[in-house]
Amino acid sequence: MTYILSGKSESARLDAQAEIPQFSLRRELEGIDLRPGTRVLDAGCGSGILCRYLEEHYRGLAIYGCDLSRPSLAHARSVSGVSTFFHHDFIGTPLPGAYDFIFNRLVAHHLTADLLLKGFKNFFGSLSSGGEVVVIDPDGLLLNIGTLDPHLREQIGQVSRAFSGDLQVARAIPQLLTQAGFQNVSWRIDVMDFQGEARQLEVAQWKERFENSIEFYVGIFGTELEARRFFRRYLDEASRADVSMFYNKFIVRGTRP
Ligand SMILES: C[S@@+](CC[C@H](N)C(=O)[O-])C[C@H]1O[C@@H](n2cnc3c(N)ncnc32)[C@H](O)[C@@H]1O
Repeated sequence: MTYILSGKSESARLDAQAEIPQFSLRRELEGIDLRPGTRVLDAGCGSGILCRYLEEHYRGLAIYGCDLSRPSLAHARSVSGVSTFFHHDFIGTPLPGAYDFIFNRLVAHHLTADLLLKGFKNFFGSLSSGGEVVVIDPDGLLLNIGTLDPHLREQIGQVSRAFSGDLQVARAIPQLLTQAGFQNVSWRIDVMDFQGEARQLEVAQWKERFENSIEFYVGIFGTELEARRFFRRYLDEASRADVSMFYNKFIVRGTRP
């Protein structure tokens, strides 16, 4: 299992997440010029938020989104305009079709470096010559909270070790893209610093991330009661104004020669 969150409430969460300034698509896509006729794929499109952004802000694109989660695809289809959505695991099998541009946003940390490399090779194989990939992922989700509570720190470590992905894989994306054959690999790192209202919104996101994955946490802590005790401890710390919370968002680009 590479991904533990899916379903209707997860689609609603992803849409709400995109409203938080630190997750702003406008900022992430700054400087990305997509001409009419460009065939664009969002690999791991979730609720289809990026496809909808492309529909609204660019003209004449052929937009595709693929995902593992059928409920997310159903939601994406129901709220999108002209984009085409299809079910596909971009790790397991080569992508159907050929694209000029591939986005992969907020997916990498759900995978290990080995799996991500397989996915990047599949992206490479389906891009036209001169085509581009853009991978966007926060480094330090869950981990980067400035708590001094030793018990919570230990529990965060437990969650991180049990997680099937890698919460710090974003820092390795430039190297992984290079290994997959991409050239001109370049990146920007935006600090996602949650303070004030943004913190409240991110704490609300954490509540939903936890709720949508409750079975995963019960598996780690043994019972629902213990899982909920962890949620409470994490959310209480995350709600303190003197406790920092930040992720480093990598926005990495590469070209297929
Ligand atoms: C946190 S969501 C991000 C969704 C969307 N990209 C966004 O920006 O909101 C991660 C998505 O990646 C999808 N995903 C994970 N592994 C995948 C794979 N191997 N192939 C296709 N989709 C995958 C999940 O189903 C989920 O919808």
